[in-house]
Parts: sequence; C-alpha cells; structure tokens
Amino acid sequence: MSDPTPQLAPSNAKPQIFNVSRRSFLKRCSLTALATGLPLWFVERELAAADAKTSKLSANDRPGIALIGCGGMGGADAEMAAYYGDMIAVCDVDKLRAAEKAKNLTKAGKKPKIYSDFRKLLENKDIDVIINATPDHWHTLVNYAAARAGKDIYGEKPLTLTIDEGRHLIKAVRDHKAILQTGTQQRSYARFRLACELVRNGRLGKLKEANVWLPAGLREGPFPTAPVPAELDWDFWQGQAPAAEYVPQRCHGNFRFWYEYSGGTMTDWGAHHNDIAYWAIGIIAPREVSSVRLSEPIPGGYNAYADYTVAYTYANGVRLNIHTTKDDSIYGAVVNPDGQRNGIRFEGTDGWIWVNRDGIEASDPELLKADLPEDAVQLYVSKNHMANFFDCVRTREEPICNVETGHRSATMCHLGAISLRTGRSLTWDYDVERFVGPHAAEANAHVVREMRAPYDYSFVI
Ligand SMILES: NC(=O)c1ccc[n+]([C@@H]2O[C@H](COP(=O)([O-])OP(=O)(O)OC[C@H]3O[C@@H](n4cnc5c(N)ncnc54)[C@H](O)[C@@H]3O)[C@@H](O)[C@H]2O)c1
Repeated sequence: MSDPTPQLAPSNAKPQIFNVSRRSFLKRCSLTALATGLPLWFVERELAAADAKTSKLSANDRPGIALIGCGGMGGADAEMAAYYGDMIAVCDVDKLRAAEKAKNLTKAGKKPKIYSDFRKLLENKDIDVIINATPDHWHTLVNYAAARAGKDIYGEKPLTLTIDEGRHLIKAVRDHKAILQTGTQQRSYARFRLACELVRNGRLGKLKEANVWLPAGLREGPFPTAPVPAELDWDFWQGQAPAAEYVPQRCHGNFRFWYEYSGGTMTDWGAHHNDIAYWAIGIIAPREVSSVRLSEPIPGGYNAYADYTVAYTYANGVRLNIHTTKDDSIYGAVVNPDGQRNGIRFEGTDGWIWVNRDGIEASDPELLKADLPEDAVQLYVSKNHMANFFDCVRTREEPICNVETGHRSATMCHLGAISLRTGRSLTWDYDVERFVGPHAAEANAHVVREMRAPYDYSFVI
C-alpha cells in the first residue's frame, strides 16, 4: 500500500526566487554546498524554497507556549520554541525540575507559571501551544488532552507507547483540528531528505533493502529500591504503567530501557531512523516482522532487550533490517567497538546510499551529484522542525511529521519491539492494525496495554 500522507511536496514545480538577485543567490548556494557537503543542485532548490517562504512572525502573533515534562529534551525544545512564541508555563511532576526550567526560561523578568498537573495547565486560555516532552508512557494522554483542550502540540517521539494509542490520538487531533508535529526532527535535516528523494526517484535502481543501525540499549542491574525523593510525585510519574517501587534508574532519563515506559532503543532511536526508512520506502507498513535477541536482560535490571536484530518485509519484497551497535555517544558507550555506525544504508540494484546525522555517502559519488529531473518526486521540505511547526500553527497546514506520520513511524518501532518481546515471527495486517496468523493473539496483547487506574482516558476527559 503506498502512502497517502502529506510527505510529498505540495507541487513538483521548482520554486521561484523572489527576493534575491540571481548572482548573490548562486554564490550563497555554492558556499552552502561547500560547507555542508550537499550537492549544488539540491542546495539551490532548498534555498530557493526557503527564500520563497520566508515569513517572520510579528510581535502580535507570538503564541503562548507551555512545556510539559521539564527534562533534557523538554529544555532543548522549549529554548527553540521560545524563538517563535512566549514561554508562559511549565509543568512537571518533579517540583525541582519544574522550578529549574521556569527559572531558565524566564525572559525579560517574565517567569513561566509552574504547574504539577498538566490538566490544570490545559485550562489556561493564554496557552496556545504545548511542548510534550514527558517520558513515552505519558505522551498519548497529554497530547490527547491537549488536542481536546484546543491546543496545538509539539509532541516528542515516539508518538505513542502502543499502536492502539495512535488511533485514539489521531481521532482527537482530527476532531479538534489541532496541529501536531511529532518530534522526529531528522525529517527536517536536508541530507536525510536528499537520501529519501534519491531512493524514491530510483537513483539506486530498484530498492532491495534498507539497513538501520540503532544504538544498543543498556544491560545493567540489578538495582536497589530507594526512598522516593520529596520533590517527585512517583505515582503520577508512573501514570498508566504498572505500579513499581521507586528505583532511580526507572525514572529520569533511563525510563527508555524499561518496557513499562518505553519500547527500548527499538522505539527510542528507532523512532528517528525507522521514520527515515519509512519516508524512503514510501509504504505505510511492513507485512512481516521477525527478530533475534542477541543478549538477555540482567534480572532485576533494565528489562528492554539491548542487543538484537529485527527484520521487516514489505508487500513489494523490500526488506528493512534493524541492527544494534555500540556507536552512540548519548548513552555513554565506547564509540564504534563493533566497527558500525549509527545510521541508515539503502541498498538498490545500482548502488547504495549511507546517511546519518554526520553525513551522506554513496557507493559512487556520482549518485549524489546528478540533479533530479523536473518531474521527479519531491518530498516535503522543512529546514527546521520547530519552525515548520510554528509556520503550521499560523497557516493551519499539515506539518512535516503530522499525527498520522508519527503514528506510522511509531507503529514500525512497536512492531519490532513486540516481535522481540514475544520472540515470534509475526504477520501484520495494516488495514485492521492487528496481527494475523500464527501467534497473533499473543502479539495483539501488546497492541493495547491495560492502563492503570486512574490514568486511563477518563483521567483527561
Ligand atoms: N527528538 C529527540 O532527538 C529526542 C532526544 C531525547 C529525548 N527525546 C524524547 O523526549 C522525551 C523526554 O526525554 P528526556 O530524555 O528529556 O526525559 P527525562 O526523563 O529527562 O524528562 C522527562 C520529564 O517529564 C516529567 N514527567 C513525567 N511524567 C509527567 C507528567 N505526567 N506530567 C508532567 N511531567 C512529567 C519527568 O518528571 C521528567 O522531568 C522522551 O519521550 C524522549 O523519547 C527526544
């Protein structure tokens, strides 16, 4: 099934250049191409599109913004968002974290108001936009409630904790006409778009497979319990997840290595690289998924599989293979002990393209150099993920990673995590969003998770 979501450029026409002279434009293109290593033809098209679109927000249309989830990513997102609007509120179930972010985000003596319950924050009519940077198990309920409260949403990846949550969220976003940008910012990096456009336009001949290397998870533990810090509402933090005694390694930052709150690195980094693979392959979902566990969690420690492979097969025969690698500075691993790099490699009948956050390479450099024809498929252009979101808040157009796109990328990751958790090879029926065939019942039990009371949908209605 090909993908109907708005991932393509609105028109295949090359953009016009309105406001710069041709000579200075070409000079700027050459300098940019030199600095970024991207091909000149691609840079020319990008800069032309950007020039055609420049629209500065006036002082009067700065939306009111609230940050929900005041950790590392929330802080980074809020700082970027503060360029486009006014940070007027922050919320966290950890009082110290909320206070610290409120202090950091204070501008011209205006301190954001502090909340500990996001439902109260959503009642504030001055807030137009929320940034949701809570841990994954809180993403859906916060976004769902925000859409229903009439707010627009920049929602961190992965969009959901389960596939079923995606359907609830899509309905809420559509019913309430909210703008939702998923925080999969690699779509707004030029080199990832270039790789996807070349694949989509047959530059590699027929695409055979994509190989994705994700950072391996952590194998650590067992962890002792500890007293809950006075500043933390541990029950609220756990939300829909099963109640557990407080262990610091379950909470801030490291929630991503526990299946109660995440899907392990399969959904954490998978949300980025699988999203790009999905963009290039251009098919909504794979049909088959299988996996191999390469290490077992340590009892009493992180329970998400750390080292693994996952293989997906699409209806057109294209395969997507996921591998884990120790190449990741974020989790403090030694860089590259296994000789692999975190990134994506597309393999076709006529060559390969490798892309990651550091660069783009091809089996033959000529594969990148030649311009695409006038009638080539052009993908949605966003040069800055946060700017694209705020543009869409103003225009009410679809952002580059809208709710459907976020749901589909998250679904790919959840399918891999479910295969790993069940140890099964599985068949996915996209139309009904359920597994079919052998072991379907066992796997479908992971498509929806029981939400611990009172933290189910009724908590926010
Ligand atoms: N786009 C990216 O490149 C990128 C990078 C890192 C993290 N992320 C995503 O951002 C999210 C946050 O990651 P992090 O590393 O900042 O985590 P973190 O644990 O440091 O921060 C999460 C914060 O949310 C708070 N929180 C938990 N439940 C809450 C609730 N119900 N209401 C309000 N606050 C609540 C926590 O107390 C914590 O302060 C994750 O979903 C992660 O996947 C995205």
